[in-house]
Amino acid sequence: MSVVALVPAAGRGVRLGAGVPKALVPVAGESLLSRAVRGLHDSGRVRHVVVAAPADEVPAVEAELASLRSFVHVVPGGAERTDSVRLALAEAERVVPDARVVLVHDAARAFTPPSVVRDVVRAVEEGAPAVVPVLPVADTIKQVDEAGDVETTVDRSRLRTVQTPQGFAIDVLRQAYAAAGDIATDDAGLVERIGGKVSTVPGHPHALKITTAFDLAIAEAVLA
Ligand code: C5P
Repeated sequence: MSVVALVPAAGRGVRLGAGVPKALVPVAGESLLSRAVRGLHDSGRVRHVVVAAPADEVPAVEAELASLRSFVHVVPGGAERTDSVRLALAEAERVVPDARVVLVHDAARAFTPPSVVRDVVRAVEEGAPAVVPVLPVADTIKQVDEAGDVETTVDRSRLRTVQTPQGFAIDVLRQAYAAAGDIATDDAGLVERIGGKVSTVPGHPHALKITTAFDLAIAEAVLA
């Protein structure tokens, strides 16, 4: 089955670097975005990637991904992440009309092992409409009231943190986005909202989301 991947990277998140979109922040000489796209490529299961970039950064993002030129398309993103995913999905369907599986991947999860990508694709190919990679929760979780006092200790044995790439039968993601409003950050959550089943596969600690300078330092230490 043909597989396409979408990487919404059109946000202005500048927490990590002076004036540079987060996806273009380098780690040991290569940007998060380039590493994330390379991981999709190295899985051997993805035919094409569509990256949504800030409209005025499309040439910069294309230059950043020049070594993967035949594998990746860059489109201008929209005002909200939802718009960026919709635009990237439309481009993916144009470039790979026979695509049956679509992945949505965070550029910030730049160190996701290719084996996780393969596991997600395999689960969709085997019939799951939607699949997310997950990890068990290591910390004890407390629910607190408005004053910050503990109401209850949540049973963590059935809690999971969610990573990407999230994988979908392409028709399912299309339907979920047709029904979605303007603002959504969790694609699988949109499938849940239309009554779709979401399955899980094991995630990986290296698929952590690089959000803060601390995360970046950890990534650089792991690579060193
Ligand atoms: O800003 P936030 O952390 O919610 O963004 C989540 C992801 O969605 C980021 O990868 C960001 O680049 C992307 N995004 C996008 N288009 C937007 C806003 C955010 O592709 N208009």
